[in-house]
Amino acid sequence: MGKIRCAILGCGNVGSALVSQLAEGHDDIVKRTGVDIEIAGIAVKDVAKHRNTDVDRTLFTDDPFALVDDNSVDIVVELIGGMDPASRLIDMAIGKGKSVVSANKELLARRGSDLLSAAASAGVDLFYEAAVGGAIPVVRLLSESLAAERLYRVSGIVNGTTNFVLSSMSEEGIDYNEALEEAQRLGLAESDPSADVDGYDAAAKAAILAGISYRCDVRLDDVAHEGITKVRAEDVQYARQLGYVIKLLAVTELSRQGDTVPQVSVRVYPAMVPVSHPLASVRGAYNAVFIEGERCGEIMLYGQGAGGAPTASAVMGRSVDAAIKRLAGHRPYASMIPARESVLRAPRARVSPPSDLRCAWYINMDVRDKPGVLAAVAKVFGDNEVSIRSMEQVGMGGEARLVFVTHEAREGDIDQTLEELNGLGAVENIGGILRVFGDNRVR
Ligand SMILES: NC(=O)c1ccc[n+]([C@@H]2O[C@H](COP(=O)([O-])OP(=O)(O)OC[C@H]3O[C@@H](n4cnc5c(N)ncnc54)[C@H](OP(=O)(O)O)[C@@H]3O)[C@@H](O)[C@H]2O)c1
Repeated sequence: MGKIRCAILGCGNVGSALVSQLAEGHDDIVKRTGVDIEIAGIAVKDVAKHRNTDVDRTLFTDDPFALVDDNSVDIVVELIGGMDPASRLIDMAIGKGKSVVSANKELLARRGSDLLSAAASAGVDLFYEAAVGGAIPVVRLLSESLAAERLYRVSGIVNGTTNFVLSSMSEEGIDYNEALEEAQRLGLAESDPSADVDGYDAAAKAAILAGISYRCDVRLDDVAHEGITKVRAEDVQYARQLGYVIKLLAVTELSRQGDTVPQVSVRVYPAMVPVSHPLASVRGAYNAVFIEGERCGEIMLYGQGAGGAPTASAVMGRSVDAAIKRLAGHRPYASMIPARESVLRAPRARVSPPSDLRCAWYINMDVRDKPGVLAAVAKVFGDNEVSIRSMEQVGMGGEARLVFVTHEAREGDIDQTLEELNGLGAVENIGGILRVFGDNRVR
């Protein structure tokens, strides 16, 4: 049996659950793996604060740098979140030859490639399973089990708050504000929900997923993201009538492999997903990642994407891995880095211009209900190479609402179509505009 000393930075939602899980699971871990993980210290901001775990209070310190500097510490688990001081603390831990486990999506999405290459140079592990999908072991699956696979699209529902809001809008027929208030009442949304509802949290996870899936350096700033604040109750109802549900998706695609530098598209947007698609069945605050590869076909992972206990479960699994590998003297596995000894840094990804990307669209508009309007609208679509798959008309007195679903079209052509439609006198208002995802009928 070997002893591993672990410094825990942060004892909030995830940190306190980890401390409890390490105490409860200690004897089992020793029996199963022969590793005795001992907590060397727990860094927090306010040592006097009440904690949801009955850990020895002498372990608390408000000096995380001194804890990381302690030569007896083997593994540093970073659960503070955000950029500073988490970033400096991880640099310091790697510099001192310690293995690191982190759940910090923002840091990994901004500096993941730098940190992984520093860890590889130092010969230590940097694990970040919990940064995407909480308890879902998607990072490990993509980086290890599917290391030899040619993946071409990895997409998913990676933000539980927005999935809860959209599910409530669809299932209860309520509007966005009501659904958000319900999420806040249940503790599933922050009082300032902007990081979730604006798609920022999902964008960080999309960058991480793309980096692992296509073995390149994708950063948060590369991800174009749209949130759910403009999704209207009526679009959710039209989606249902047309056989779709609206989901906020992180979509990463390999546009072109290239010799050394892959070209990728990495985006977050609310999309119409056919009810028959596996992602459509993901309800409430659950997360799922849908993986498509040349040989493996389709794989979907589903589970709890957030919450103290599920997230800590992933952190704990990777901490045990890091401990076992440290004791056994294994070389680190750096999952964003190509498996060539001489190359310690993943190539910077080339990001496809959004205007070149192709997908199908749902477009809903109010027009004057008079002869010739439909033909004029259809001509604008046709002139811009956008083919219409279906159209429904709902009469409303002197106006009519037209609901279109297009075939796949270039995004640049859709933008031009919308611009010209906006200039058409007969078009009163263009309301819902959403991409269609995963529908083979629109190809
Ligand atoms: N919560 C989730 O469901 C979830 C899911 C997936 C990933 N994550 C990630 O997990 C990480 C932790 O999330 P969380 O929800 O546990 O956060 P949290 O509840 O806000 O906890 C943060 C902890 O860090 C401590 N801290 C803050 N600044 C510090 C400083 N300068 N020095 C020392 N300690 C400091 C805080 O101390 P005090 O307690 O004294 O204030 C607190 O214990 C984040 O990276 C987050 O993105 C969270």
